[in-house]
Parts: sequence; C-alpha cells; structure tokens
Amino acid sequence: MEKKITVLPGDGIGPEVVAAAVRVLQVIAKRYKHDFQLGYAAIGGAAIDQFHDPLPEETIKMCKESDAILLGAVGGPKWDNNPAELRPEIGLLRIRKTFDLYANLRPVKAFPSLLDASPLKREVAEHVDLMIVRELTGGIYFGEKNRTQSEASDLNVYTREEIERIVDNAFALAKVRKGKLCSVDKANVLETSRLWRQIVEEKKVQYPEVTVEHNLVDSVAMKLITNPGHYDVVVTDNMFGDILSDEASVITGSLGVLPSASIRSDNFGLYEPVHGSAPEIAGAGIANPAATILSVAMMLRYSFNLQDEAAEIERAVSSVFDDGYFTADLVKDKARALTTDEWTDKVIAEIDTNFVAD
Ligand code: NAD
Ligand code: IPM
Ligand code: MN
Repeated sequence: MEKKITVLPGDGIGPEVVAAAVRVLQVIAKRYKHDFQLGYAAIGGAAIDQFHDPLPEETIKMCKESDAILLGAVGGPKWDNNPAELRPEIGLLRIRKTFDLYANLRPVKAFPSLLDASPLKREVAEHVDLMIVRELTGGIYFGEKNRTQSEASDLNVYTREEIERIVDNAFALAKVRKGKLCSVDKANVLETSRLWRQIVEEKKVQYPEVTVEHNLVDSVAMKLITNPGHYDVVVTDNMFGDILSDEASVITGSLGVLPSASIRSDNFGLYEPVHGSAPEIAGAGIANPAATILSVAMMLRYSFNLQDEAAEIERAVSSVFDDGYFTADLVKDKARALTTDEWTDKVIAEIDTNFVAD
C-alpha cells in the first residue's frame, strides 16, 4: 500500500516521541511491504518561531495532499504569554477545525504489566477497556470569545448536526464493542447538555443492541476512578472529554501510554498522543513514546484499514511491557528506566523477532 503521511513534530517532547513512532512505522512498512512517504511540516510554537503563525499555509497544504497526519504535541512556557492568536494551542485547534476532525477517539486500556504503576488498586484497574469518544470541533472551544478589562466569556454552542454525528459514531462503536454507551453531560444545568441528552435519546431507537445510560459529568469524574470497569464507550462534548481523558490516564499508570485518533466521516485522520509537550522533561530523551507509537497503530487501523499491522504494533508494545521494560514515568526506581530510544529499540526488536520467527 502507498500512503502519504504528514508528520508534525511540534514542541517539547513532541519531536522525540514522533521520531520514535516514525521508526516503528518504518519497520512496519518494511515488514509488510508498504510505501509510506513522510513529509515534515511545522505546527505550534515551532511554527510561530519560524513563520510567525501556529498553523502556516504550507502545513495545511501538505496535510491536504496527504492521507493522514501524525502529530506530537504543541505548547510550552516560551509562548504562554503570547496573544491568543499566536499561541501554539491555536495551531492544534485550527488544524482540527480545518479538516473537520470532529470524532476524537481516546481508548483507555489497562496493560496487565502496568498495573503496579497505577495508583488504583489492582482489582479496580485491571481489565479496564473503555473508549472515550470526544466531540472535537464544537462547543466552548470554538464559540465566540470576548474579553474586556473587567469581563470575559466563552460561548458554548452545539448544533443538532454536530451532536448527531458524534453520537452516531459512539453508538456504532458501542455496537461492535461491548454494547454499552454512557453519555456524559451536565443536563441539570446546561442547555447544550439538554439538547445533547435529547439527541442521544432519539438516536437510541436506531441501535437496539446498545444499552444507554446518561450520567452527569461530575459523577462520572468520580465513577471513572472508583469503578472504571463499568465503562465501555463514553461519549461527551469537547470540554468534558478533554478533562475526563487525562483523568482516565491514571487508570493505566501514565498519560504517556494514551493514544488518540481525530477523524472525520471519510476516515481521514490526525493521530496524536493524548498528552502534551511535557516541557519539563523535553530534551532529556526520557519521554514515554508508547502513546505516539500506539497512535500510529490507530492510524493504520482507522485511516488505512491495515488491521494486522495495527495489531502487531499493539502486540509488540504490550509484550515489551510484559518483558519488564519501562520508561521513567512508569517506574519508581528510575535507575531501571529505559530512555525513549532504548524503549523504542525494544518495540522494534519485538516486531523484527516476530517476523524472523514466521
Ligand atoms: P502534559 O501532558 O504535557 O504533561 C502532564 C504531565 O505528564 C507532566 O508531568 C509530564 O511530564 C507528564 N507526561 C506527559 N507526557 C509524557 C510522556 N510521553 N512521557 C512521560 N511523561 C509524560 O500537560 P501540561 O504539562 O499540562 O501541558 C504542557 C504543555 O502541553 C502546555 O503548553 C499545553 O497547552 C500543551 N498540551 C498540548 C497538547 C497537545 O498538543 N495535544 C495536549 C495537552 C497539553
Ligand atoms: C488535548 C489538549 C488540547 C485540547 C489543547 C492543547 C488545546 O489538551 O488534545 O487534549 O484541549 O484539546
Ligand atoms: Mn487535553
């Protein structure tokens, strides 16, 4: 298969974890005889420094000509005091909006060998396998903003179409998973949530095989930690999904292992770790590349329909954890930790060995 991929390393640990994920992508290309052509472009702080624009036209053009996008992370203290239009995060929001990447899939799966790294009790965290489906191009992130000396506002707007399409995605996923959908809102207070809840109710007649529950976001924030095993697919708006997905990462032991896919109806997508640019460890070569490597697996699965290749990456990652290899975020005894590159070498060796064994 021949595919064009635009790679956007971004800021902080972004370039480090992306370099690791690209190495894994290349070994998959070699082993399965695919031709993945990579083109690099700037986003975020790196693009502000170079082009005075967090999402330059050049970058948009390259993304338009490609079949998928791989992104590291954006942001950092260097740009935190910039005016809103010149913040790295705007580059990310703009690329999501420009390409209409409304469906953000954030799987949260407990790796058996990471259970000791989770602050939760083993019996609470084990077997967790849930999918947060976050609406990504609407809501309070994109509503009108205002700011004066004495007042500021961010408008939370959702249209029926925006809610319907993300809810449809979530139902379709629940149908092929464990048949359970939890819709998260704040319908006791917010009008957007009341419309959201009404649409979920309307849609559920089309998916009789799916059991639906509605839950308020504050209560879900609690239950996600006390009983994460309860959840299968969790669908929610842009803001709640952002918060709940970082929270859910504690179940797995580290934010460094959570991948994501941001896709639209034709399966074009942007793939990035859930975590940010972790400026305090940037440049140290110790970031966990697992989230970005697993995001590459999601790219192969959702944008290219390469199921075996995706599964092979996931198997290799899991097996490296089972062999007792971890980056610093996952071990107490830092002397035992592997660097980003060493850990990636293990994943690549695992894939290579599997092929030699065949
Ligand atoms: P963060 O996700 O960067 O870091 C949170 C914590 O997790 C830190 O302790 C960090 O060291 C750790 N961490 C994150 N990823 C890790 C990894 N792969 N390996 C090891 N440890 C890891 O969140 P933050 O510190 O709140 O934000 C830093 C910057 O990143 C901000 O500018 C923010 O806007 C940006 N951000 C970007 C994205 C994105 O590009 N998608 C997402 C979140 C935050
Ligand atoms: C994420 C990030 C972004 C978001 C920021 C950096 C704009 O936190 O991808 O989760 O809030 O969506
Ligand atoms: Mn976030």
